[in-house]
Amino acid sequence: MKNDVLTYSSDEHGIVSGASLPVDSEPEILSLRPKRLPDYIGQTDTVETLKIAIEAAKKRNEPLDHVLFHGPPGLGKTTLAHIIANEMGGNLTVTSGPALEKGGDLIGILTHLEAGDILFADEIHRIPKAVEEFLYPAMEDFAVDFVFDKGVHARSHRYRLQRFTFVGATTRVGLLSAPLRDRFGIFRSLDFYSEADLMKICKRSAALLEVGINNDGATELAKRSRGTPRIVNRLLKRVRDYAQVRADGTITKKTVSAALSLEGVDEKGLTNLDRRYLKTIIEFYNGGPVGIEAIAATLQEETDTLVDVVEPYLLKIGLMIRTSSGRKASKHAYKHLGF
Ligand SMILES: Nc1ncnc2c1ncn2[C@@H]1O[C@H](COP(=O)(O)OP(=O)(O)O)[C@@H](O)[C@H]1O
Ligand SMILES: [Mg+2]
Repeated sequence: MKNDVLTYSSDEHGIVSGASLPVDSEPEILSLRPKRLPDYIGQTDTVETLKIAIEAAKKRNEPLDHVLFHGPPGLGKTTLAHIIANEMGGNLTVTSGPALEKGGDLIGILTHLEAGDILFADEIHRIPKAVEEFLYPAMEDFAVDFVFDKGVHARSHRYRLQRFTFVGATTRVGLLSAPLRDRFGIFRSLDFYSEADLMKICKRSAALLEVGINNDGATELAKRSRGTPRIVNRLLKRVRDYAQVRADGTITKKTVSAALSLEGVDEKGLTNLDRRYLKTIIEFYNGGPVGIEAIAATLQEETDTLVDVVEPYLLKIGLMIRTSSGRKASKHAYKHLGF
């Protein structure tokens, strides 16, 4: 891994707020990250697609096709990029859309790649257009085109790259240009995890953290984790603290409830921000429809945070509805918030 280009994306969010934290750099979170494909829980279709593609590429002694992962934060996109590098046995170079300000930034990275290396770019919807142009020939022909001089004297020189695999991750696939999207051979959207899968992740992490947890405790944590492995891991650590200080050290349903009510996480796993979002629509805008910009302004939150972090799960569990005229709170939202 080349440390000079190792960057951590800013789409990694804390448990309750939408605050941008480089949570992936926390050593404990890193150690909870599965390293090989068989340890990756859930997302069975995606895992199967990757398993086949990796095995076939290895058989042919070729690099893996370029891969694009789409989905809300914390569902395992970065983890899969690391797993792909481990399974293929290539070096992993990590960058992100916002870190690639100029074409030169990308060219510097590309020309240092060795055959079979993996280049992972997080938040690829934020790659500037001018930089994206260099990606097209790099992904398609493993080449970069340098242009010297301007106007009628312009000459271009083609520089050959080693054959590498580009892995992109994005929370907003709709913002990607068609030419970029089309250059990925494998495209997978990650979905929220089932309660059963989150329970498995919870138990695996508890074992790694060496904390006892019973079935009811794991079920309760899974229920309150917004379908998201990163949240299950973070909540598990809060509950572990609570269990060790206020109880006998084992995580039960009771310790989960008590610890998480302190964190502002309710029975459905909604956070303070989720509830403020729904309350704003209901109380301020009569239940909607209302535009996202208006909600963001009232809440004094970033629109991107609401769209990337808050809305996907509320949509998934049917607490809000998106219509052509704006966002609406569903009748379940009124009920859940006690209106
Ligand atoms: N399928 C999975 N099985 C087990 N743990 C997972 C899985 N997906 C994610 N995690 C855990 O959740 C954390 C966040 O995942 P990450 O890959 O950083 O999400 P993303 O890049 O999509 O925001 C990881 O550190 C890992 O511990
Ligand atoms: Mg990530």
